[in-house]
Amino acid sequence: MKFVICKTFFCLAVFCLCLSGCQRAPETESQETDSFILGFSQIGAESAWRLRNTQSVQDAGTAAGVQLIYFNAEQKQENQIRAIRSFIAYQVDVIAFVPIVSDGWIHVLEEAQYAGIPVLICDREINISNENLYAGFIGTNSRQEGVLAADFLVKKFSVNDRQEASRNRQIRIVELSGTEGSSVAINRALGFRELLAEYNDTAETPQFEIIYSASGDFLRSKGYELMSLILDSNIEDIDVVYSHNDSMTLGAIEAMKERGIRPGTDIVIVSIDAEQAAIEALRQGEINCVVECNPNQGPNIIRLASLLAQGETIPRITYMYSRVFTEWDDLSLILPRGY
Ligand code: AHR
Repeated sequence: MKFVICKTFFCLAVFCLCLSGCQRAPETESQETDSFILGFSQIGAESAWRLRNTQSVQDAGTAAGVQLIYFNAEQKQENQIRAIRSFIAYQVDVIAFVPIVSDGWIHVLEEAQYAGIPVLICDREINISNENLYAGFIGTNSRQEGVLAADFLVKKFSVNDRQEASRNRQIRIVELSGTEGSSVAINRALGFRELLAEYNDTAETPQFEIIYSASGDFLRSKGYELMSLILDSNIEDIDVVYSHNDSMTLGAIEAMKERGIRPGTDIVIVSIDAEQAAIEALRQGEINCVVECNPNQGPNIIRLASLLAQGETIPRITYMYSRVFTEWDDLSLILPRGY
């Protein structure tokens, strides 16, 4: 497990002391008056999106003068739990973390509550019966992201004349899903299915069918491997690839091109995130729609954590604003994404 301690060398020294059983050091005169200590556990660096998300938190923390203790859990829940326990031992003012999966947090959250440290859940949601164990959630609405992805397909296949021939048959969808057990993968699948089911119930044709779904763990390498396997198998007549993130999408596009398949033309592609490389692929006609998942959550995380540090309550849910980019938009208007 890697960790980086921002803001001051002082913080590193005190944290090491804490890990060896000592108490948190008293505040020094040089500390900013409204400064507080935030322990932030990130899940890893699996995608360009995730790197941008981490940077956003670190930049916002630096700008606000927050003492940020940052842990990279390298995709392991046990590393996150260990990091949270070390935050508790250090008696940070606030704990924020991105839960890699939604289950399995109850004990460590009880420990944080017992220590009187408020917890902010970031980016991914948790599944827990006692919601009092955390103060609030800040992130995107991943169920809505799935709905928006499906909504594009309904419009594309019902309205677009180019798809006229498809009207009288089933639209066969392959889904590249995110990390198993993560709230984003669960909700992006759920929202997508909900809207398609609603559409299938009300319309005669076309009917949408998910013919195959597997997890590519949000990784480009797995998106490539999965798509290669699918294309080399007996799964035929794929109309659509719905991918839970851009990294997997870019890997899948590579696999298609290697086999002479034109992404965006032979197979309609809907992706989530909206990183720069995906927007470029959208411009080139290789992706048809990208639902934005806004990674710039840092300013909101720091703002909410700051309120918690002052003993204030925060909203249970704070959703980030997100957009949808489609092949029908004026793509010249999209500003550089910065990640
Ligand atoms: O939790 C957000 C998801 O995680 C993003 O869509 C993905 O790129 C990242 O790895």
